Amino acid sequence: MIHLLTIVGARPQFIKAAAISHVIRDLYADHLQEDLLNTGQHYDDAMAGNFFSELDLPQARYNLDVGSGTHATQTAAMLRGVEEILLSEHYDGVLVYGDTNSTLAGALAAAKLCVPVFHVEAGLRSFNRSMPEEVNRVLTDHLSLRLFAPTKTAVENLHREGFSEQVTLSGDVMLDNLLHYSPLAKSHTPLPDRYILATVHRDFNTDHEERLKSILAGLCTAAERIGCKVVFPVHPRTRHRLDSMAIKPPMEYITTVEPMSYLETLAALRGCSLVATDSGGLQKEAYFSGHSCLVLRPETEWSEIVEAGAAVLTDADGNRIADEACRFWGVEPKKPDEFGDGNAAKLIVEEILRCL
Ligand code: UD1
Repeated sequence: MIHLLTIVGARPQFIKAAAISHVIRDLYADHLQEDLLNTGQHYDDAMAGNFFSELDLPQARYNLDVGSGTHATQTAAMLRGVEEILLSEHYDGVLVYGDTNSTLAGALAAAKLCVPVFHVEAGLRSFNRSMPEEVNRVLTDHLSLRLFAPTKTAVENLHREGFSEQVTLSGDVMLDNLLHYSPLAKSHTPLPDRYILATVHRDFNTDHEERLKSILAGLCTAAERIGCKVVFPVHPRTRHRLDSMAIKPPMEYITTVEPMSYLETLAALRGCSLVATDSGGLQKEAYFSGHSCLVLRPETEWSEIVEAGAAVLTDADGNRIADEACRFWGVEPKKPDEFGDGNAAKLIVEEILRCL
């Protein structure tokens, strides 16, 4: 029996881990035993707890409860916690997802103890080293034995950095999930008839008053011109900043709601006519669901969506946001084929079994 430790901690990782956990339990339970370690990077029920039940994720065997902190404090607490577990219990491999502090801490603790690291969502690059996520993903790729790249662009990025046979083009586990969970999508809050689904949580948007205000102003102008609402699930970081800067999104245009669960997000995606976000995951989910997307950033790791004409980089420019929202409102992009066929998780698990 092969023992695998999967390290998660932030909301998007619970979602990504669900696809692979299901494949392990449904198809490979005789060969592979997976334990989950939750670092506790996200801890509010709306950011963490409800994902486990909704996505039928097994309870985490280990909880580090690290909570929030500066990058160094948070990452250091995770490093210690992961190391302690890897020293006390034998694991044949460690599986990490994406680019959060939990990803880097898990990969670094394991690599130092010579435990093979498998990285899902490898090879993404924004080429912007001022993003903590860019630092996390570059380092994690270089610590990993096997790199699962979701797209050809990600594979090419890795080739440019000197990787070759370590890389597998796997497709995207988020597409697996979207296809699997869409029939179960449901909303607990009433949604308007015509709306833009908007989220903002990146520090470069939330922690700069001018940028945050400019994004909200752009969304309000868009709503006014189009004659629609903006549904705005608010990440706790964003909620804290809005409160501390005493910014109140105008209710006439913007309906703020609590962070949504995964199934609620899928329902909100189904009913919207446009997405505006600085999240990487939601950019893709918009594309998979047949919606155009305004990317509230100066660049994106998911360049194929922009190249396909399904997304546009507006950054935090209010005028641009309003103009592009009017241009893209209701425009349905072609069905994507750059992210695999919905079987990424199976391919990844089979490759892990081959390696171990
Ligand atoms: C993290 C990831 C980001 C990912 C995002 C998904 C890093 C560097 N960033 O960003 O890549 O897109 O998760 O959401 O790892 N907070 C709460 N309750 C919670 C969690 C956070 O109140 O359950 C607040 C705290 O004030 C905290 C802040 O949000 O300081 C930021 O949380 P943190 O986990 O550091 O980063 P995210 O912005 O969530």
